[in-house]
Amino acid sequence: MAINCPEGTRDLLPDEMAFWTSFKACATDIFSRYGYLPLETPIFEQTELFVRGIGEATDVVSKEMFSAVSGENLKRLMAGESIKSKSKLSLRPEGTAGVVRAVVQHDLVPQGSAPAKLMYAGPMFRAERPQKGRQRQFNQVGIECLGADDPSVDAEGIIMLMRFYEAIGIPVAHTRLLINSMGCESCRPAYRELVRAYMDEHKDELCDECSRRAEINPLRAFDCKNPACAAAMEHAPKITDHLCDDCKAHYATVKSYLDAAGLTYVEDYKLVRGLDYYTRTVFEVQVTEGMGSQNAIGGGGRYDKLAQEVGGRPTPGFGFALGYERCVLALEAAGFSFPAAQRCDVFVACVDDSARSLAFSLVQDCRDGGLIAEMDHQNRSLKSQFKLADKLGAAHVVVLGPDEIAQGEVVLRNMETHDERRVALDDVVGALR
Ligand code: HAM
Repeated sequence: MAINCPEGTRDLLPDEMAFWTSFKACATDIFSRYGYLPLETPIFEQTELFVRGIGEATDVVSKEMFSAVSGENLKRLMAGESIKSKSKLSLRPEGTAGVVRAVVQHDLVPQGSAPAKLMYAGPMFRAERPQKGRQRQFNQVGIECLGADDPSVDAEGIIMLMRFYEAIGIPVAHTRLLINSMGCESCRPAYRELVRAYMDEHKDELCDECSRRAEINPLRAFDCKNPACAAAMEHAPKITDHLCDDCKAHYATVKSYLDAAGLTYVEDYKLVRGLDYYTRTVFEVQVTEGMGSQNAIGGGGRYDKLAQEVGGRPTPGFGFALGYERCVLALEAAGFSFPAAQRCDVFVACVDDSARSLAFSLVQDCRDGGLIAEMDHQNRSLKSQFKLADKLGAAHVVVLGPDEIAQGEVVLRNMETHDERRVALDDVVGALR
């Protein structure tokens, strides 16, 4: 039986690869205008990084991480032996923890320096139940800014992301920007207790999962998809009524910058996000047309304690990640399909075998001259070579046969206009360029 790709993964075939490449180029173009520079971190990290960074109680860490162990360590584990903590590895479920680890490890934000503005693109892995828009391997493009807690960082990040969606072709009218503030270490603990107490009072209305959450992670109950929980949490205390003065002022300034940029947003006090590192600003961008339940195409926020959490000095941070595959779904809902990746400037067709070795050299000369050139590799008839040239979308076809070789001239056919002209054999590249 043929083997298919694992559930929750997909192949990016050539047409899509061309689009994915241009998608990343578009992000790099826009994000670089805001000072973001690319970096790449490993696809796997020590499990400990995600446990400490993202939070042990989050779904992402407690249920969805893929472990990565070497064969040797796997044998040890199977034999009931323990392995060194350093050898416990996981495929990255997201990019932030790894980037912050790299910033700390390489001291990219020395005291008194400008913030480090970094961007990344690549695969992330979460063992979620696959469905439309939810995969086990998916691609994110993200940014992280470390070293500044000013609300202008949050606002310019959100504006930059919305500019990207627009540039890539996701209709602004199909998007909804949700924002919230999660407070900080001085106001959130008291608020969490309020929510926990509220959940205790409403225990009977909440699902088992939320009852469990009340103990370890009460704010996650705001995210529960169960309609009874949603109804019960509707009247829970709102974080925005319990922010300290500094968080209130920070949030107000973020909003004033968004207003000044003319962005429309919805304040959603229920937006808590699924990762534990957030402080203050959080946001999410959803698509309102044709996406189903997995409609978040990007999200992020501020994480002023994460660098310390992974062993660095206090370094405030802000970032976001967008989901490439979900952006494709949003684009497809708006009528987009991948343009053909295949391009061909010239196809060199042979009248018979006597022209093949010259055709081979001519194709090579064309490629060396910067053209995308192709010839037949399957002994096709001249007619079917023309069909192939058509299929490849060749802009021109050069016909090479004994007469052409004898005269040192070839026929150059423009496949769109069907015009033909004779060109000296040694001038084909020049004529085409
Ligand atoms: P996140 O909200 O977990 O945030 O993921 C960001 C985006 O990745 C989502 O909005 C969605 O588009 C996409 N995504 C997430 N899970 C899946 C999945 N299973 N299948 C397909 N797409 C998915 C983060 O990952 C944070 N690291 C963002 C961040 C950066 N916060 C601060 N800095």
